[in-house]
Amino acid sequence: MGWSSLLNYRGTVSSTQSEAKELAEAGVPEGTAVLAEEQTAGRGRQGRRWHSPKGAGVWMSVVLRPEMELKDTPQLTLLAGVAVCQTIREHTGVQAAIKWPNDLLVGERKICGILVESALSQGQIRYIIAGIGIDVAAAEEDYPEELRRVATSLRIESGGRIFDRVALAENVLTELQKLYRLYAAEGFAPISRMWSGMSATLGRRVLVGAPETDRVSGIAVALDETGCLVVEDEAGSLHSVHSGEIAWI
Ligand code: BTN
Repeated sequence: MGWSSLLNYRGTVSSTQSEAKELAEAGVPEGTAVLAEEQTAGRGRQGRRWHSPKGAGVWMSVVLRPEMELKDTPQLTLLAGVAVCQTIREHTGVQAAIKWPNDLLVGERKICGILVESALSQGQIRYIIAGIGIDVAAAEEDYPEELRRVATSLRIESGGRIFDRVALAENVLTELQKLYRLYAAEGFAPISRMWSGMSATLGRRVLVGAPETDRVSGIAVALDETGCLVVEDEAGSLHSVHSGEIAWI
């Protein structure tokens, strides 16, 4: 099936993830996307809520139908991070960088989050929904108190410019399609190189948020060819981290 460039526009929805899932179940081709003005129950990773006020961001979900093994899907989330980071840098001049696995930061504050959800049947991927949330138009005072120090927007980082959200979403989709084709043709290696060039992570001291027993802290030294983050602990041992989240230390 080919790549669709259809961007379905919605007003208020609970979450574009659910809207995209409905479309995927109805059989739309991959690349089909849903962009909403507002989400009343925007979802973040690990069951967190995603603040998605009206007109303030690109709240978008994209249907993908990759032929890949389930264990490789973290590579797709890294690919989506590269697509958004590249788009933000090129189209707004804001120097976003990627915190592993795929949060986009400007300085220490988050400007974009990505949530990749897989629908499976007997261990096989039926489809994947890649959810992308980019803070575009919020001013400092628009953020609730608890987000003010940790979140930022393209408006704040560009000295007050208001970017067209639909144009941004279209540019993200174009970049996503380009990288998705590259990935299908050449595998993860070129994506890994691009990710490393946009990383805010490599060279930093990190704590890997695994369960207490196998917590690892050390320097993030590389992204390996499978998408794992390689962390070197104080004794010089290397640990490959497959999924989860990291904290700066
Ligand atoms: C995270 O950083 O925790 C991921 C946030 C993902 C937010 C986007 S906004 C569009 C899509 N719809 C959702 O409900 N979540 C994702």
